[in-house]
Amino acid sequence: MTNLWSGRFDNAPNAEVFDFGKSLPVDKRLIDDDITGSRAWAQALGRAGVLTPVDTEAIVSGLDAVRAAVHADPAMLDRADDEDVHAFVERELVARIGDAGKRLHTGRSRNEQVSVDFRLYLRRRIPVLQRAVVSVIEAMVAQAERAGDATMPSYTHLRRAQPVLVTHVWLSYAAALRRDWDRLEAARHEADLMPLGSGAIAGTSYPIDTAFLAETLGFSRVTLNSIDTSGDRDFVASFMYACAMCMTRLSRLAEDVILFTSEEFGFFELADEVATGSSLMPQKKNPDPMELVRGKAGRAIGVLSGWMATMKGLPLGYNKDLQEDKALAFGAEDDLAGCLMTCAAVVRTLTPRPAVMRQAASGLLLATEVADYLVGRGLPFRTAHEVSGKIVRDLYESGRDFSALTLADWRAYHDVFEDGVFKAITPEAAVRARRTPQSTGPAPVAAALAETKAWITGRR
Ligand code: ARG
Repeated sequence: MTNLWSGRFDNAPNAEVFDFGKSLPVDKRLIDDDITGSRAWAQALGRAGVLTPVDTEAIVSGLDAVRAAVHADPAMLDRADDEDVHAFVERELVARIGDAGKRLHTGRSRNEQVSVDFRLYLRRRIPVLQRAVVSVIEAMVAQAERAGDATMPSYTHLRRAQPVLVTHVWLSYAAALRRDWDRLEAARHEADLMPLGSGAIAGTSYPIDTAFLAETLGFSRVTLNSIDTSGDRDFVASFMYACAMCMTRLSRLAEDVILFTSEEFGFFELADEVATGSSLMPQKKNPDPMELVRGKAGRAIGVLSGWMATMKGLPLGYNKDLQEDKALAFGAEDDLAGCLMTCAAVVRTLTPRPAVMRQAASGLLLATEVADYLVGRGLPFRTAHEVSGKIVRDLYESGRDFSALTLADWRAYHDVFEDGVFKAITPEAAVRARRTPQSTGPAPVAAALAETKAWITGRR
């Protein structure tokens, strides 16, 4: 058995230990990026006069042939016995074009190759995740539009707080998901540095035009320092952080969907197509997909903290520990893609139950409106709060709510109460009264909905 460093050693590698160190089963995902990077490197060597035009051309078309062969038969990668994707490509190239292929690795190291590959990969894959985030937001906007002027309770401490428009709730998730989109964009920006020219650690002795390489490979910047470049996987951690935050978001959304579609809340009905039944209990309609989203979020957080633990003890420069980044990052990517797809499908197909939501928004959670009503009649807020609190206590004890009170009942608590109180103490009036841009009032919410739709249009 020979490999990329056989010349240095007397004995062949222990096959089991060699297998233990292999990354091809994982980094085969980088095949296209590896070929793209090598193609550009061959051109840079050609421009530097290190390769003849004939060799350069042979390498470039040889790499294109390897790419075509792998696309025609992806299982080639599973049959191969190479250490990693870089070794695979080089061996396939040499098999096709002979000695010219052996010149490709001139002045270059796998340490920078894996960096350029992974950066290229994230540059093209992050936008796929971002589009999936936009799809979830689109599903929310569709629910927001469908909700019209429906109201529901908002919660703090999971206790009914104040009435809000259902649209406002959907737009709250959308606002948060837009931050997740931005975080993915930041990770994409961090990956936007071209590392070639760094060599194994000390740089390269050939007159490589790094600006040409950056431009050819679609990077806007070149890394600053060869030592830093060889051991830098901060951009991978940033990607994992963006995934973990988005997964945390989806987990909270999942929790809300699980609660709001439960018998206890009943605000929405889960579509049959995204629910599961029970093998034993015929009445069950379980939100398994949402529970899985919530469950997988734990793993996404584990990926980030696990990766940071791997990085924290490493001495300067490349260390093989860094090879562990790809299995973790690919797992985080796949999980996030699956969870985004699932959340979009679940949100899109929820059926709202406006009557149940309005009923839940009509009880004692209107107490703030009573206090505000009194403030409108000249009472200091603290006094108003006390009066409203007293009414709440009495109603709570007798199992009633504000709608049970006659004008005489109201006036027994304070003589500033007048006929207008009946219209003021409803979920609709509560919502209408909220007027700042962040508020749940119909006007600010209509503006927020329009703004969210414009944001989506800008991302298409
Ligand atoms: N498979 C390696 C990785 O993912 C590529 C770099 C290998 N470099 C080395 N000197 N062994 O990190």
